[in-house]
Amino acid sequence: MRRKLAAGNWKMNGLRADLVQIDRLLELHPAPRIETMLCLPATLLHDAATRAAGHPMTIGAQDCHTEANGAHTGDLSAAMIRDTGATAVILGHSERRHAHHEDSEVVRAKARRVHQTALTAVVCVGESLAQREALNTLDIIDGQLSASIPDTSNGTNLVVAYEPVWAIGTGLTPTLEQIGEVHDFIRARLERRFGPGVGRAVRLLYGGSVKPDNCAAIFGVSNVDGALVGGASLLADDFLHIIKALEAAV
Ligand code: 13P
Repeated sequence: MRRKLAAGNWKMNGLRADLVQIDRLLELHPAPRIETMLCLPATLLHDAATRAAGHPMTIGAQDCHTEANGAHTGDLSAAMIRDTGATAVILGHSERRHAHHEDSEVVRAKARRVHQTALTAVVCVGESLAQREALNTLDIIDGQLSASIPDTSNGTNLVVAYEPVWAIGTGLTPTLEQIGEVHDFIRARLERRFGPGVGRAVRLLYGGSVKPDNCAAIFGVSNVDGALVGGASLLADDFLHIIKALEAAV
């Protein structure tokens, strides 16, 4: 059985004063039957990991460099992220693929580095609106999966997040049938590439305008093992609602 995962992505939001949101999450939901993860700005990782120690909440970063160290001004290595106490890294988020021109080969190199550093890679894939309208969604997902996921992946160090670009921050979501179609497709592709053991163990998250009022329906879709939540993870009460809906789906 895959352990359900409610992951939040704070993106470029959050000052140290906002760590109280994490305290509130830990206090109100100390022992969920699911895993909770918050992927935070680098400035908050150590404080958050210290607070979350001993709780079933993991702390993640939102990107890292492909190299182990070196002359890369402004970048963070996987080892630096691990050194904060964080255990996961989001890679290939559409905001990085687009705003930072990261292609799937770069994402794969980052994910390999993350695995070599004993961290979990949360690899994001997703089609644009034009690609969906051109009926290319599954081809796009197929290409991103093949090129972004490294051979170092296994059932615990890889999480795949399906985030349609057009659903991120827009309030739009695919239909439940569309989400199910893509998640079933990703599952089949992972099983074909890594075998049924690993392929069935990898958790698949849906991301894109997940809110307290639509999450329960999404969590009922086949091969949806949780969510990667942007805006609705910033406030503890909203995120708690989503966590509890996911727990109810266990
Ligand atoms: P929103 O939930 O704000 O649409 O963001 C989704 C996302 O990009 C999570 O990584």
